[in-house]
Amino acid sequence: MQNRSMKMLGVSAALVLGLTACAGGGAGSEGGDDTGGGDAAPEDMTVGVSMPTQTYERWLNDGAAVEDGLEELGYNADLQYADDDIPTQQQQIDQMITQDMDALIIASIDGSALTSQLDAADAAGIPVISYDRLLTNSENVDFYVTFDNFAVGQEQANALLYGLGILDEDFEPAEDAPEETLNVELFAGSLDDNNARFFWDGAMDVLEPYIEDETIAVPSGQTTIDQAATQRWEQETAQERMENLLTSTYRGEEELHGVLSPADPLSRGIINALRSDGLGDTIEDGLPIVTGQDAEIATVSLIAEGVQHSTIFKDTRLLAEQAVNAADTFLNGEEPEANDTESYDNGSAVIPSYLLPVEMILQENYEEILVDSEYYTEEQVESGQQ
Ligand code: BGC
Repeated sequence: MQNRSMKMLGVSAALVLGLTACAGGGAGSEGGDDTGGGDAAPEDMTVGVSMPTQTYERWLNDGAAVEDGLEELGYNADLQYADDDIPTQQQQIDQMITQDMDALIIASIDGSALTSQLDAADAAGIPVISYDRLLTNSENVDFYVTFDNFAVGQEQANALLYGLGILDEDFEPAEDAPEETLNVELFAGSLDDNNARFFWDGAMDVLEPYIEDETIAVPSGQTTIDQAATQRWEQETAQERMENLLTSTYRGEEELHGVLSPADPLSRGIINALRSDGLGDTIEDGLPIVTGQDAEIATVSLIAEGVQHSTIFKDTRLLAEQAVNAADTFLNGEEPEANDTESYDNGSAVIPSYLLPVEMILQENYEEILVDSEYYTEEQVESGQQ
């Protein structure tokens, strides 16, 4: 893992150094002057922060970190959660615009559902930062802060192949790889979240050659993102689909060896279904290999116990910092620095983006990456609670 982390750090350093901002097409260049609060002091400015849901730990951490970061710089923050309900998020943002927020940081539920809010923000000269999930179908998005979402999918697939023994610990073809074809099932996220396609495409980029040469098979035949999607990223929906797959496909000869899951809450639903079906309590006693994303504390605990095989760590403290920096930069009349000006075409414009690197978490490295760095304490990992 050491080498691998070094490699990833190399990639991210190149991303950071390689490119500078090119703020084309955003609200900043089209409508009112979005670049700032002029001479106003941070204490006199408020940044609206719109988050999708409080149901998952990930967004609670994001909201708190963005709020803290803004307040540390002296800004006021208006943090709102939308209960995964699109009209609620629309209303909350409408209100932020009416209340003259100085900047907006938005993690959308449905990336395409906020175009009229984005038009209104542009007309009012309010810079908009798209947070983690891309706001789509609008030119009025000034900046995007996120992780390397394609790499998330690739790392999920690599982790799955490693867990299945097809790749070794250096992620090279394993010498003692199983000879028989191994069976996997595939899950994707919510189709209205642009990230879901990046995760899926990244994962399929790695898995497709192995499906083609029959190293792995998908016995249900459900191999398109539409078939694998999980509306609104709901844990219960993933659990139900896994139960249905077990009933429809794994009641005869077939044995299930692994599941590609795009996010930890879904993974926990999938694991519930696998355990209830008697497939084992831990990987050691037969539980299939399950991937994940977000390194949520409940999941890291399951990884430590040998239940879930892997997750992908995205340090949301760093994402919050990027979002706060971007807002601060706009409010100082400048443009934030992008490290990617190509990947995120939102259907109306290519949005200048800042991508952060990601890391694969396994039983053998969670202590080094998550505990030694003080992201979690060992007690939190043991209890599974923050
Ligand atoms: C985020 C993931 C998260 C998922 C479900 C995605 O947009 O990038 O980190 O697991 O939403 O909340």
